[in-house]
Amino acid sequence: MSFIGRIPKDKVIEYFSQYVSYGKAKFFTKFGMDFVFGKREGIYVWDIDGKRELINCHCNGGVFNLGHRNPQIIQTLNQALYELDIGNHHLISEHKALLAKKLAELTPGNIKYTVFCVGGGEAVDLAIKIARAFTKRPKIISAVGGYHGHTGFALATGDEKYKKPFEPLAPEFYQVPFNDLSALEKAVDDKTAAVIFETVPATLGIYVPDKNFFKGVREICDRKGALMIIDEVQTGLGRTGKLWGIEHFGVVPDIMIIGKGLSGGIYPITATCFREELESVFHDDPFIHISTFGGAELGCVVAEKVLEISSSSDFLNHVNGLADFFAKELQRLKEKFSSIVESIRQLGLMMGIKMHNEFLGMMAPLACYQEGLLCVYANNDRSVLQFLPPLITTSEQAKEIIRRLERSLLLLSSEEFQKKIFQKVMES
Ligand SMILES: Cc1ncc(COP(=O)(O)O)c(C=O)c1O
Repeated sequence: MSFIGRIPKDKVIEYFSQYVSYGKAKFFTKFGMDFVFGKREGIYVWDIDGKRELINCHCNGGVFNLGHRNPQIIQTLNQALYELDIGNHHLISEHKALLAKKLAELTPGNIKYTVFCVGGGEAVDLAIKIARAFTKRPKIISAVGGYHGHTGFALATGDEKYKKPFEPLAPEFYQVPFNDLSALEKAVDDKTAAVIFETVPATLGIYVPDKNFFKGVREICDRKGALMIIDEVQTGLGRTGKLWGIEHFGVVPDIMIIGKGLSGGIYPITATCFREELESVFHDDPFIHISTFGGAELGCVVAEKVLEISSSSDFLNHVNGLADFFAKELQRLKEKFSSIVESIRQLGLMMGIKMHNEFLGMMAPLACYQEGLLCVYANNDRSVLQFLPPLITTSEQAKEIIRRLERSLLLLSSEEFQKKIFQKVMES
């Protein structure tokens, strides 16, 4: 029996609209982007009706770093299914112990302990809990336009538009502009528990900070007794050409959050990793933080495999080779389509194409879709198209991605296409 196509596509859309999300169904059908994931393999996904094939350059922000249904991951999970299940979240676990040991070996500097979670937001919440409990201070500083998730404390770090409808939220959360050390200097004081930043804020439009930014953050945190939390949910696991994005900046955070790709695209698992000293917050009562599915044992073995693949030098060399190819090609496309493209943002395969305005940025995913690429714009800087191909893309496939992107930019430059989309927007 197949799990794909049990009901026709129009029924999927109808049920989704009636029972899951009316708004999302309306949005995607209106713009002709009513794609329903059917078959998926490697860098490709097919619409449920088989009529359209896309290359996934969204990758759910890194979930599909290793492509869809990576055979090594599937094989590991299949084998594990003969013996394992979720496990027990209170008891000592072989699989949590082994995965945490591996993370201690692979994470930067003196990061040693790991608590496992299910989603990225939950892992961010935990990082903030640890920071507050350890420092006994209330304030948390994050970046304007940054994004750390939809859960309690994670949501409180975010922008107003995500928070407003859900107020009142947790107090003592403040924002500063990203990449601005003097603003951070003013914001951090003796009440600050932690500063939290993404290494390269994705939702803010793949904003690569100055080379010395994180050294400055580390210095301010150390001087004022605040902890430095780095969110590697999107930048981790090889996306930037190093195993962790923060390695490009030569500093070690106190707490690091890993998510998305750790799942291998197959089994949700995330991690909050931190210095040994910080583990003391759980000494009096180790049951003060619990997560039933956090660190499910099947997820642990999947994550171990993901780390084994992503940390190999062959894999990282491959990512860097691809990054060089894309750097050259994106520069060429920027020059060719200078009427719509303003600049290219890139750290490894963490890439963004900044358009001249928000309208172009918001139309770009539709043009990409027409030409066979799945991409989205950055929600906190809508002039930027996020461009995140899977890290397992071959060099032949990379050429195909560029051909499709070139056709997409050509379409996006056409007045006829722009007018058509503009009309749809006006109708709403
Ligand atoms: C940088 C970053 N941090 C945290 C999260 C939250 O992760 P999740 O959606 O798994 O809760 C996201 C999700 O997009 C993210 O991009």
